[in-house]
Amino acid sequence: MPPPPHGYHRSLRDDADEPKLGTFRSLSRLIVYLRPYKFAVAVSFVTMLVGSFLRILLPLVYRWFINEGIHSSFLDISYFALVAFVLFCFHAIIACLGYLHRLAVAAHGQGMIRDLRNHIFTHLQSLSLKFYDRQQSGELMSRIMSDVDRLEWGVVEAVLEITNSILTFVFMIFVTARYINLKLTLVALCTSPVMLFMTWLFNRKVHDLFMTRREKIGDLTTVVQENLSGVRVVKAFGREDHELNRFQGETNSYFNYGITVNRLLGLVMNLMEVLASMASVVVLVFGGWLILNDKRMNVGELFAMMAYVGMLQAPIRTLIHANYHMQRSGASARRVFDLLDTKPEIVDAPDALELPMARGHVEFRDVTFSYNGSEPVLRGINLMAEPGQMVAFVGKSGAGKSTLVHLIPRLYEVANGCVLVDGIDVRKIRYGDLRRNIAMVMQDVFLFNGSIKQNIAYGKLDATDEEIFSAAHSAHADEFVQALEEGYDTQIGERGVRLSGGQRQRLSVARAILADAPILVLDEPTSNVDTHSERLIQDALEKLMRDRTTFVVAHRLSTIIRADKIVLLDAGEIKAVGRHNELMQTCELYAHLYRVQAQSDT
Ligand SMILES: Nc1ncnc2c1ncn2[C@@H]1O[C@H](COP(=O)(O)OP(=O)(O)OP(=O)(O)O)[C@@H](O)[C@H]1O
Ligand SMILES: [Mg+2]
Repeated sequence: MPPPPHGYHRSLRDDADEPKLGTFRSLSRLIVYLRPYKFAVAVSFVTMLVGSFLRILLPLVYRWFINEGIHSSFLDISYFALVAFVLFCFHAIIACLGYLHRLAVAAHGQGMIRDLRNHIFTHLQSLSLKFYDRQQSGELMSRIMSDVDRLEWGVVEAVLEITNSILTFVFMIFVTARYINLKLTLVALCTSPVMLFMTWLFNRKVHDLFMTRREKIGDLTTVVQENLSGVRVVKAFGREDHELNRFQGETNSYFNYGITVNRLLGLVMNLMEVLASMASVVVLVFGGWLILNDKRMNVGELFAMMAYVGMLQAPIRTLIHANYHMQRSGASARRVFDLLDTKPEIVDAPDALELPMARGHVEFRDVTFSYNGSEPVLRGINLMAEPGQMVAFVGKSGAGKSTLVHLIPRLYEVANGCVLVDGIDVRKIRYGDLRRNIAMVMQDVFLFNGSIKQNIAYGKLDATDEEIFSAAHSAHADEFVQALEEGYDTQIGERGVRLSGGQRQRLSVARAILADAPILVLDEPTSNVDTHSERLIQDALEKLMRDRTTFVVAHRLSTIIRADKIVLLDAGEIKAVGRHNELMQTCELYAHLYRVQAQSDT
C-alpha cells in the first residue's frame, strides 16, 4: 500500500501496518498521569507490602502456639488469651492496612482516569474535521469511555502487585528456609518453574485476543450509536430486522472472543490450582517422613509449612492475574494513545497573529483543495471580497460551494494557495481570533440537547436575555418560540428533534446573528423554510449584512439577485463571476439555471 498523501487522515483502525506500541510501552506512558498522585501511589504500595509481610508472619504464630502452647505440660488459660490477642491484633492491623490501601488506590486510579479523560476530550476538540470525517463516533466513544475505564486497575495495581509478589516471595522463602526447614522449602517450590512457564505461555497468547476484543467493543458501540442517531431512517425504511441482524453479528463475534479468553484463563488458572495442590501433597508426605526419620522437624513446623505452601503459590497466581489485567489494560492503553497520538492538523503557528476585529476583507488566492489528498474538489480558485460586500455562490449540487465556504474559517486546510482575511493568510491568524470573526449558518443545522435559549446563546456564550430575544426576533424565530408552552426554555431534544426543519434553521440563523461577527457565512440559510418566512429571514439577513462581508450559498437564485458578486461554481472551478444582470447576458449556464428556477417558482 503506498503511503497516504500528506495531510490525509487515516482512520484509527486503518493503520494496521504501523508499528504499534507494545503493552509495556503503552502502559508506561500512563506514568505521566500518575505524577500528581505520587503520595497515593506510595501509600498504596507501602500498605500492600506491610500487609503481605504481616501475613507471612502469621504461620509462625501458629507454630509457636502448637509447639509451645499445646505441647507444654500445663494448660494455661492466660496463654491462650495471649495467643488470641496476638492473632486478633495481626488481623486488625492487616484489615486497617487493606482499607488504607483501597483508599489510596481509589485516589490515584480515579484521579488518573479523570485527568486522562479530560486530556482526551481536549485533544478531540483540537482535531480537525478531516479527522472526524474518517472516524466512527462509536469507535471514539468506546475509547474515551470503556478503554479509559479499563486503565483504572491495570497499571498501578498490576505493577504494585507484581513488585509486592516478588518481594513477599523472597521474604517468604527466607522465613521458611531460615525458621522452618530448608529441604521442605525446596520441595514446596518444586512446581513453581512449571507455573512460571505457563504464565509465560499465557502472556504470549492473551494480548492479541484482548486487542481484538477491544476492537469488537468499538464495532458494537458504533452499531448502537448509528442505530440510535439514525432511528428515523431505520423506522422509515422498516429496517429494524436488518439492524438487529447487524447488531447480533457484532454481539456474536464479541461473544466468541469472550469465550476464547475465558477458556484460556480457566484452563491456566485451574492447572495452577492442580499444581499448587500437588505441591502441598508433596510437602505433607515429605514433612511427615521428616518428622518420623529426621528429628529436626516437629508437628508445629509442618503445620506452619502447610500454611506456607498455599502462600508460596500465591505470588505466581498473582503474577498471572496481574498479567491478565495488564494485557487487558495494555490493549486499552494502546487504543487510547493511538488516539492521543493523532496530530491535530490545524494548529496555531508559533508566530500566529492576533486579529481582534477583522475589517472583513477576504481573498482566495489560487486555492486548491481535496478531501482525500488525491481527487481535487476545488481548483484554481481566485476570488476577492471587499469589506461589506455580499458574495453569492451558485452551482449544481456537489460543485463545491459548501467546501469553499468552509475554507474561510479554516475548518479544512487548503492543499495549495491560500485564503486571506484582511490580507493575512488564515493559517497565520490565531485560530480562536479567526473563528470569532466569522459567524456561520451551516447547511446541516446542528442543535444541542438543551433549551432554545441555550442553543441560540451558543453564538455568544455571555449573551444577555435581551440580546438573545432580539436575535431570535431578527431571525423570525420569535413567533414560533412564543407559541411554545415553555417559550425560550423549551427543551428541544437531542439534535433538536422536537423542532421542524425550518424552525431549526431559524434558530441557527439567530445563533449567527447573535455572534455578531464582521464576516458572515450562510450556507443555504433558508432552504427549509416556506417562501413567506424566507422573505422575512432574507430581510433580517439583509439588515445584518449591511456592514459585514457575507458569503451566501443559495439554490434559490431570487435570494441573491442583489449580491455584489455572484460566483458560478462548476465541478470545483469558478466558471463565471459577476452581477446578476451581467451573468444573465454573458453566462449561458447561469441564465439557464435562473430560467429553470424561475419556472419552478411559478
Ligand atoms: N467531508 C467530505 N469528505 C469527502 N468528500 C466530501 C466531503 N464533503 C463533500 N465532499 C465531496 O466534495 C464535493 C463538493 O461537496 P460540497 O458539499 O462542497 O458541494 P455543494 O456544492 O455544497 O453541494 P450542495 O449544493 O448539494 O450542498 C462533492 O463531490 C462531495 O462528494
Ligand atoms: Mg452544500
